Amino acid sequence: MIDTLTIQTKRTSASRLPEVDFDHLEFGKTFSDHMLVVDYQDGEWQEPQIVPYGDMTVSPANSALHYGQAIFEGMKAYKNEQGEVYMFRPYDNLHRLNASAERMCMPAIPEEIFMQGLAQLLRLDAEWIPSFTGSSLYIRPFMFATDGLLGVRPSDSYRFMIITCPVGLYYNKPLRVRFEEKYVRSAEGGAGFAKNAGNYGAAMYPTKLAQQEGYNQLIWTDASEHRYVEESGTMNAVFVIDGRIVTPALSSSILDGITRRSVLQLARDWDIPVEERKVSALEILAAQANGTLQEAFGVGTAATIAPIAVIGYQGEDYTLPIPPADAFSYRVSAALAEIRSGNAADPHNWMVRL
Ligand code: COI
Repeated sequence: MIDTLTIQTKRTSASRLPEVDFDHLEFGKTFSDHMLVVDYQDGEWQEPQIVPYGDMTVSPANSALHYGQAIFEGMKAYKNEQGEVYMFRPYDNLHRLNASAERMCMPAIPEEIFMQGLAQLLRLDAEWIPSFTGSSLYIRPFMFATDGLLGVRPSDSYRFMIITCPVGLYYNKPLRVRFEEKYVRSAEGGAGFAKNAGNYGAAMYPTKLAQQEGYNQLIWTDASEHRYVEESGTMNAVFVIDGRIVTPALSSSILDGITRRSVLQLARDWDIPVEERKVSALEILAAQANGTLQEAFGVGTAATIAPIAVIGYQGEDYTLPIPPADAFSYRVSAALAEIRSGNAADPHNWMVRL
């Protein structure tokens, strides 16, 4: 990618890279040396800057802290065997970030700031991109209100930032999940399709209750009847039933996952039937009982594909069959890994070279 924007860059005086234990990376805990910072003031985006990663000050009346005007993205960059750096579908993240911004009354990020800021930050911190199997550089673009004002109205000023962290595998074993029938993640007409911070904060309490019962995550159900599957934890939910890929259709309460999109595209490329529609908890349990539920898994940027081993419903646990070696989730996971490693063709041009 050619630089079209001059970004003022202050480099760190001492890289933290030598201190990093790449064999034991806890997700989201180790940050690379630099970060991108761009402020929005007086109705326009100011000069972007790249500065050493570190703390910053905000007003105690910062309206993101009080009223949750904050959004984020999750995306990844990879290094191939030749040491070239690629981002996976970054334009999709930009478009989704701007859809979230619109829902939260925040200004859109111009493509040039997002893509150039990202590219120049990644170039500077390229040595932080791990290349062992299953690893990547997780990229967290985010934007938050910066007005120091307790009045309840959209902020006039904002900050857009990008921080990055090297990551390994997100989950190391198949998940135990249970259908949630009391709490909801989002309702139709709410902000569930947006990646706003509050969606995640409000999910923590019901998730904690499920974890106390021995589950890893919840399968969220719809707000009005608790009948239909929405998402699985912080991921989209996908099932393989009788050779068909079945997943909840997108709606205002479901995040338009980029991994979801990629998985469904690969299934279609392989002529596997894909059904995006309402999926009820009872349909899943009936398929488990009659042996047609072949696989269930979550799909998301952080975990990519997270197989589900057990589904809990009303106090009972239902165990899924152990998928065979040629199961769809394994095939699609391997295909995505190949595309990302640069070893396979990329017919949809998902990888964008730095
Ligand atoms: C993702 O997988 O993209 C997520 O958003 C998970 C993240 C909140 C850790």
